[in-house]
Amino acid sequence: MHDQIPTPALNTIPSYIQTIFDYQQQAQNHVSKDIWGYLNGGAMHEISVQNNCQQFQNIQLIPRHLNDLTQGNTHFQLFGMEYPHPIFLAPIGHQALFHPQAEAASALAAELMQSNFVLSTFTNTHMAQLKLENPYKWFQLYWQGCREKSLTLIKQAEQSGYRAIVITVDAPHVGIRDRERKLFFQLPEEMQHPHTPTHLSFPDVSPSESQLFQGLMQIAPKWADIAWVIANTHLPVILKGILHPADAQKALDHGVSGIIVSNHGGRIVDTTIPPLVALQKIRAIVPPDYPVLLDGGIRRGTDIFKAIALGANAVLIGRPYIYGLATAGALGVAHVIRMLKEEFEITMALMGTATIKDINQDYIYQP
Ligand code: GLV
Repeated sequence: MHDQIPTPALNTIPSYIQTIFDYQQQAQNHVSKDIWGYLNGGAMHEISVQNNCQQFQNIQLIPRHLNDLTQGNTHFQLFGMEYPHPIFLAPIGHQALFHPQAEAASALAAELMQSNFVLSTFTNTHMAQLKLENPYKWFQLYWQGCREKSLTLIKQAEQSGYRAIVITVDAPHVGIRDRERKLFFQLPEEMQHPHTPTHLSFPDVSPSESQLFQGLMQIAPKWADIAWVIANTHLPVILKGILHPADAQKALDHGVSGIIVSNHGGRIVDTTIPPLVALQKIRAIVPPDYPVLLDGGIRRGTDIFKAIALGANAVLIGRPYIYGLATAGALGVAHVIRMLKEEFEITMALMGTATIKDINQDYIYQP
């Protein structure tokens, strides 16, 4: 049924699409087999890919009843901005693989839904092509091998109206992805990446040295570079990919404005601690008002509730919105956000919580 020739994206959403899982099934019709493997796959046995979703299913909710919810809403604030719901779009590169309008479609949907879109360094769409006055956009930085080149991108992001810099710190090297390798997945040669080459050139190494340690890791960012970035931009700097509480503490010590707890969708190191577990350990040591976002495995409104109850200020979704993008472009992405928002809102009401501030660990069964 899912043959090699993908069906073009839809212009309307069929009524049988009601959940993220329906989008996942539908999206498979609209991309080729190797791109599908690239999107859904992860590192090695893909245990973390599965655990990211499983981690939510292992947590049980305890609803409260008869509370007054008449002033209820899903609003919250972050870095001085008010958002109507806590669902953001994670950085994902090469979105032209999934829809001809690529990142422009995702950004448009996010703007309409007042959700932050995090534009990847590996975007196919130039950052200045997204509307200057759209406030719902952050820029994700992959370190460019040196401070100057990295700062050039940050300054462009400042000038193009981006509201924060998200530095991904968990992928100085790509993960070992069996599925991609077996499918011979490669980015199309003609694909444009207006901000960066997809492969950085790194220093020559002698035959006795390692290309990885003395080569690539030579140009990977270090904590001092993060401090330098913070000193050189007026935007909040957020680190994405933090799992260890000691790294969260270091982020705080270096003046990082917030962190995204994430294992990169299970795409880099397999069998990491689940982000939801890391979130609790990190929340326990950072100040209560320190922004901590959770990325990984969100598929339902109940998942968002659990993430917030366990300490997240907001969540990011990755694959789910790409299923929407592949299925129906901006319309699909907006619908994905809307569905999750509705599920979250109804979950809040059924759990007896009127506002995001009311959601806490008392609503989680602790055996
Ligand atoms: C890149 O960040 C990827 O996960 O493919």
